[in-house]
Amino acid sequence: MTATAMYQTIITESKDQIFYITINREDKLNALNIQTLSDIKNAVLSIYDDSTIRGVILTGKGTKAFAAGADIAEFANFTVEEGTKMSEEGHGVLRAIDHCPKPVIAAINGFALGGGNELAMSCHIRICSERARFGQPEVNLGITPGYAGTQRLAQLIGKGRALEFLMTGDMMDAQTALNYGLVNYVVPQEQLISKAEELLNKIKTKAPMAIASVIRCVNAYYEKRADGNDVEINEFGNFFGSEDFIEGTKAFLEKRPANFKGN
Ligand code: COA
Repeated sequence: MTATAMYQTIITESKDQIFYITINREDKLNALNIQTLSDIKNAVLSIYDDSTIRGVILTGKGTKAFAAGADIAEFANFTVEEGTKMSEEGHGVLRAIDHCPKPVIAAINGFALGGGNELAMSCHIRICSERARFGQPEVNLGITPGYAGTQRLAQLIGKGRALEFLMTGDMMDAQTALNYGLVNYVVPQEQLISKAEELLNKIKTKAPMAIASVIRCVNAYYEKRADGNDVEINEFGNFFGSEDFIEGTKAFLEKRPANFKGN
């Protein structure tokens, strides 16, 4: 592992083309204050154009929490203007993750509540430990989710189930999250990072530009102003000029593994 840039609230490291981001506020159950969200955003943006990095794993320090939500102590006295700004900025951070051209996997090591669940939902794939718990408990605090929880939860588990969890504030266990499609895999805590690495190591063998394109096309389905089919048609056509496409098809016909260069 190579430690990368210094941040106040997260630890970043890289190894074997994977960038690891660990939320480092264990004593506060990795609650997301404004500094943490800013650190996460800067860390993710820092690898957008880094050709040495092929995927990201986002997790929380310790075994109790991925992130237990936005930092209640920080926002408890916010004004209407400050609350609106908090939500706008939070949406921006999560959009930076969602639009990352490299796959981002949330390795959910415990509670993913409120902003913590919203952060996990902005990642492309979620894997959780058996002890993980999910929920949007904002209604207990007299507010709604503010980091796109109402949107992404309904997209991932369906409107009826999402409304139940959003209105009751109940927690969902790992098995229910798996059954509902909120997470892709449930694994023992000690296998959490290795399962995420296994997936990224597989994705790493594919053409990087095709991976970035898949992310853009799928995201287009959820963009109000985009027609996902048009985006896909354009993305597909553009590949016919790429070296990786020539290499991929040639490798298939020559019955050998492709060696993609990312151009
Ligand atoms: N914001 C700020 N601090 C938080 C926090 C949050 N969202 N979640 C936990 N913490 C802090 C606690 O205040 C406590 O700090 P302290 O030791 O200085 O008092 C510390 O983390 C440990 O939490 P604690 O509540 O003592 O742990 P627990 O095991 O009894 O309960 C939870 C765990 C997750 C059930 C509980 O912490 C909780 O309900 N957190 C808030 C969840 C929430 O509403 N999130 C949505 C926010 S919009």
